[in-house]
Amino acid sequence: MTETTLLLLKPDCLAARHVGDVIRRFEQAGFEIVGCKMISLSEEVLAEHYAHVADRPFYPELRSFMQSKPVIALAVQGEDAVAKGRDLIGPTDSRKASKGTIRGDFGKDAMENIVHGSDSVENAAAELKRFFAPHELFTAEVRG
Ligand code: PPS
Repeated sequence: MTETTLLLLKPDCLAARHVGDVIRRFEQAGFEIVGCKMISLSEEVLAEHYAHVADRPFYPELRSFMQSKPVIALAVQGEDAVAKGRDLIGPTDSRKASKGTIRGDFGKDAMENIVHGSDSVENAAAELKRFFAPHELFTAEVRG
C-alpha cells in the first residue's frame, strides 16, 4: 500500500547536521518527499503531539528539548511508508537501536533520537494534518 508518513527531524538532528543523512536514507530506500517545512513548535502543537506522554516524568525535559531549536517536518510517501520508515529509524532508545538504523548510527538516547516517525497509519494521518495544510502536500494526485 502506498502510504504517507510524518517525520520530524528533531533539534539534535539539526544541531549535528544529520538532516541530509536522514533524507538520504529515506530517498535511497525508495521514498519520496511530498512535503517539507522548518518550524518552531508551539505549546499547542507540542501538547497535541505529546498528549500520550504528557504525564511521564520526562515530559518537561522533552518539551524544552523540542523547543530548543526549530524542527523540520517531512511528509514521506511510498510503499508501506509507516512501518518501513520505523524500520529505517529504529527503536525509541538510540542506545538500543542497531547499527545501520538512523537512531543506531546518529542518536544518543531516548530523547535525542534524531527523528520522530509516525507509529501507525492512523497516527500518520493525524500527524500529517497537524503539521501540513492540504496545499502543502505535493502528492501524486496534486502534481498530476
Ligand atoms: S514511550 O515511552 O513508549 O511512550 O515512548 P515512545 O512512544 O516511543 O516515545 C514517545 C516520545 O517520547 C520521547 N521519549 C523520551 N524523551 C525523553 N526522555 C525519555 N526517557 C523518553 N522516552 C521517550 C521519545 O523520543 C518520543 O518522541 P517522538 O517525538 O514521538 O519520537
